[in-house]
Amino acid sequence: MDIVQWRPNYSTMVEEFDAEHRQIIGLINRLYNGLTNGEEDQALRDVLAELVDYAQKHFLHEERLMQRFCYPEYEQHKQEHDSFRNTIEDFNSLAEKDGSGLGMPLLKILREWLVNHILEVDSRYGQFFNDKGVR
Ligand code: FEO
Repeated sequence: MDIVQWRPNYSTMVEEFDAEHRQIIGLINRLYNGLTNGEEDQALRDVLAELVDYAQKHFLHEERLMQRFCYPEYEQHKQEHDSFRNTIEDFNSLAEKDGSGLGMPLLKILREWLVNHILEVDSRYGQFFNDKGVR
């Protein structure tokens, strides 16, 4: 069972970023299902491995487009990305030693990221990029 479903109001109005945001929803659901199926360790390892990669690629993707068009909120936005990247790397380091008990805190952080960053902060760039011809 999925804990989060994609909804139209999650859209940033930029297709490629929406596709990447769907990936994080997929990771939230994989982690949740791993936790509820008693497969926390494996789910945690798999999700963290993808998250590290996701954080590098997706954030760089957004940041490059922001820089290209001189997005006025670039600096604050990048700070949020950097903070999230550091959090994920900290989780990854801890999980390499002992991942027990980390699944639920990671799930909470990912859900907060969805609500506080994707739905609030990312959604602010949609109109700006659309006005530059990016959809
Ligand atoms: Fe979609 Fe700003 O991360």
